Amino acid sequence: MLNFAITGGTSGIGACIFTNTECQNFSRSTGYDIRTKSSRNDIINNIKDSVNVFVNNAFSNLNYFAQTEMLYDIAEHWRNEKDKIIVNISSINAELRNPRDFMRSKYSIAKRSQDNAIEHLRQLCDCRIINIKPGMVDTEYNKHKDAPKLQPSDIFDNILYAIKNNIQDITITK
Ligand SMILES: NC(=O)c1ccc[n+]([C@@H]2O[C@H](COP(=O)([O-])OP(=O)(O)OC[C@H]3O[C@@H](n4cnc5c(N)ncnc54)[C@H](OP(=O)(O)O)[C@@H]3O)[C@@H](O)[C@H]2O)c1
Repeated sequence: MLNFAITGGTSGIGACIFTNTECQNFSRSTGYDIRTKSSRNDIINNIKDSVNVFVNNAFSNLNYFAQTEMLYDIAEHWRNEKDKIIVNISSINAELRNPRDFMRSKYSIAKRSQDNAIEHLRQLCDCRIINIKPGMVDTEYNKHKDAPKLQPSDIFDNILYAIKNNIQDITITK
C-alpha cells in the first residue's frame, strides 16, 4: 500500500498526485513553507508513520534552492529507512546549457542542484530516491503557452511506473 505525502499538493502536478492517492499535503495554504528550516522540520515531524512515499514537488519562486534544502532534510530523516521512497520533481530544464536570461539560468541551476544532490544522497541513504524530470506541463502557469504539453497525470503515471519497476530516473517530454 502506497501512502503519500507531498509538498505543493494544491495545484498543478501536486494536485493531481494529491487527489489520486492517499496523501498528506504540505504547502503554504496548509501552513507549511519550504523556505524556512522550522517549517521543513514541521513537515517532517508531521508526516504520518504510515507514509512511505514523499514527493518533493513544491518549488519556491522566492527561494529557488528551498526545494533542494527540503530534499536534503527528508533524505537525512529517512537515511536508514530502506522501505521509504523519496520522489523528487526536477525538470528537463536542469539540462539547459544556453539560457536566454538570468531567471532561466537560475531555475536551471536550481534544478541541476537537485539532480547533483541526488547523486550524493543515493550513496548516503538507504531510502530510495526517484528523480523525475518533466518537460513543459499543462498547468496554470503555462496555460497561455502554445507548445506541446504533458498532462499532470503523465507525471503521476510515471511516478507509479518508477516505483513499481524499481526505476531511479525518468525524463519525460511531449
Ligand atoms: N509546470 C511545468 O511545466 C513543470 C515542468 C517541469 C518541472 N516542474 C516542476 O514540478 C513541480 C510542480 O510544478 P507545478 O507547475 O505543478 O506547480 P504549481 O502549479 O505552480 O504549484 C505549486 C505548488 O507549490 C506550493 N508552493 C509554492 N511555494 C511553496 C512554498 N514556499 N512552500 C510550500 N509550498 C509551496 C503551492 O501551494 P501554496 O500556494 O499553497 O503554497 C502549490 O501547491 C515544481 O518543482 C516544478 O519546478 C514543473
